Amino acid sequence: MRSLAALSGALLLSAVPALSQGMIAATPPMGWNSWNHFAGRVTDADVRSAADTLVLTGMRDAGYTYVNVDDTWEGKRDAQGVLHTNERFPDMKALGDYIHSKGLKFGIYSSPGAKTCGGFEGSLGHEEQDAKMYAGWGVDYLKYDLCSFQDEMRKVKAEHPDEPDAANNLMIAAYRKMGDALKATGRPILYSLCQYGVDQPWKWGPGVGAQMWRTTDDIDDSYGRMIAIGFSQAGLSKYAGPGHWNDPDMLEIGNGKMTEEEYRTHMSLWVLLAAPLIAGNDLSKMTEADKNLLMNKEAIAIDQDVLGKQGDRLYQSGDFDVWTKPLSDGRIAVGLFNRSWDNRDVSVDLSEIGFRDGGRVRDVWRQKDLGRRTGVFTDTIPRHGVTLLIVSK
Ligand code: GLA
Repeated sequence: MRSLAALSGALLLSAVPALSQGMIAATPPMGWNSWNHFAGRVTDADVRSAADTLVLTGMRDAGYTYVNVDDTWEGKRDAQGVLHTNERFPDMKALGDYIHSKGLKFGIYSSPGAKTCGGFEGSLGHEEQDAKMYAGWGVDYLKYDLCSFQDEMRKVKAEHPDEPDAANNLMIAAYRKMGDALKATGRPILYSLCQYGVDQPWKWGPGVGAQMWRTTDDIDDSYGRMIAIGFSQAGLSKYAGPGHWNDPDMLEIGNGKMTEEEYRTHMSLWVLLAAPLIAGNDLSKMTEADKNLLMNKEAIAIDQDVLGKQGDRLYQSGDFDVWTKPLSDGRIAVGLFNRSWDNRDVSVDLSEIGFRDGGRVRDVWRQKDLGRRTGVFTDTIPRHGVTLLIVSK
């Protein structure tokens, strides 16, 4: 295990193309966000404690470096238009300094609309002012959530019923405005679009300065919602790559409403999708199983592979789904998924994925080499479970 991890670390460094050095999000961003667990109750203390725990558990060293405050930190704007925080966040600059002192990065949240989804102050009309303020606080990541900007879009639609693109164009312009404002600060700030996939952001996201964009509506802590989002990503792989990622939303692992096998499916699907890995649980209450899922080095290495290719569906039949992701050095990651309520056999024909003469098969979750295999590889997969493989020559 150790030598393999060290080897993949060394490969990672030596294989990074010169061009992607210094690029924001050369590999999918990883970190933690307050929303999925704390939602509107989050406090400065919760965020500091999340930063501490990322370090203590080893999650930071496994790659989870962004600490993102989601909605509900905002207070009111003053007469000069300066947005203040509310009483749960007494000092954002100090919070940013604390996060940075732990070797982590600081993320924040706003909306192009007048109000955020939680009904707090958004950035409409204050984009440059807000961007400068974030840069002053040492912010490294902005999640920009459509929310009440949909009211502006509805207005334009009603005013220009003969212009079908007017509303979407207005939205894209609003996202560009903040993208430009972030760039103008001179601070490298990762720009994460959250607009639920409206008007195919994978086609215009890079053009407004974004490094990632949500592709769907919100996830929740249920197997049904998680797989509906995960498996709906089929066909999007060509839009992802170093510096620009599809985002099927944050992780629910550790929030308690899925079984261990279901969370294993969640992590496996997200790493095959080269998805941003933003944990959304209470880090102070992780079970050993949660830690093993979130910190399996080989699973993370699939997500973070330097080729930067998103995986895609190889085939689907009934409750079986097989997904593959090309990795560096000619390796292929394969996920065999069983969506049924019973344990079932799921197979992949190795010759169909480029291993006509067979390949060496590694089982990622069992952390076991399965030796050289040729032809059809079959495994018995528990209900709602997965087998995650890496096949190499
Ligand atoms: C939207 C987003 C969520 C979260 C909430 C906050 O629903 O999609 O991820 O940021 O708003 O209000």
